[in-house]
Amino acid sequence: MSDYEKVASVDEIEPGKRLSVFVDDIPVLLVQKDDGCYAAVEDVCSHDGQPLTDGPIADGAITCDRHGASFDLKTGKPLCMPATEGIPIYDVKIEDGSIFLRPSSGEVSTCNHPTPANTVLAPSVPQTIPTDGEPAALEAIEVSAEDDAKSIDEKMIDALRTVIDPELMINIVDLGLVYSVNHDGKNAYIDMTLTSPACPAGPQIVQQAKMALERLRLVEEAEIKLVMTPPWSPERMTDEARDHLGIF
Ligand code: FES
Repeated sequence: MSDYEKVASVDEIEPGKRLSVFVDDIPVLLVQKDDGCYAAVEDVCSHDGQPLTDGPIADGAITCDRHGASFDLKTGKPLCMPATEGIPIYDVKIEDGSIFLRPSSGEVSTCNHPTPANTVLAPSVPQTIPTDGEPAALEAIEVSAEDDAKSIDEKMIDALRTVIDPELMINIVDLGLVYSVNHDGKNAYIDMTLTSPACPAGPQIVQQAKMALERLRLVEEAEIKLVMTPPWSPERMTDEARDHLGIF
């Protein structure tokens, strides 16, 4: 077991702030949450090596501002694609006004205050999908009642392709999030999933999918059913989506 290494004094970091330090020459991001508890993670995104230094922090997770992966600050586990591996975490010890870190021993943290909901320590990643507007590309994919059932399904899939996952910047069809598309009269029924149940963009994606379908002339109401079984996996992505994310 590695020894603790002094990295800072407690007055160098305040609640809600972060500090970049080194432990054994490895960059580590030390965070003091609003409840006073500390968390420390290796300051390197497991997806493609981006420093997490300036990534937004909310609900006990940090988001990589390059492609949008997020990690649980307490466990280091990945919460969102494109990361599929976690990041190392560190034990934190406070002694005589100093902060000490060491690679995690695997023991449960002694600081067990819950993280306040919606704590944001840095500006959120800009969201590229408007929440109150309508996808611009939909004008070209309206369908008429004369279309046969297959082409209507195809048109619905085209509509869903206008919905972009704001963190991965890939449409939800190519990401493999859409499991089934059906219609009955003027009602559309979609089964879809998310890359992770904890993915913060989930409500926005579902709302945008519903809006995209209801823009179609033939659809009056779209019902989006969120399913987590079978769970999404990277194998569901198209080759183009995988190339885009650098997953081979
Ligand atoms: S480098 Fe972090 S998500 Fe790609």
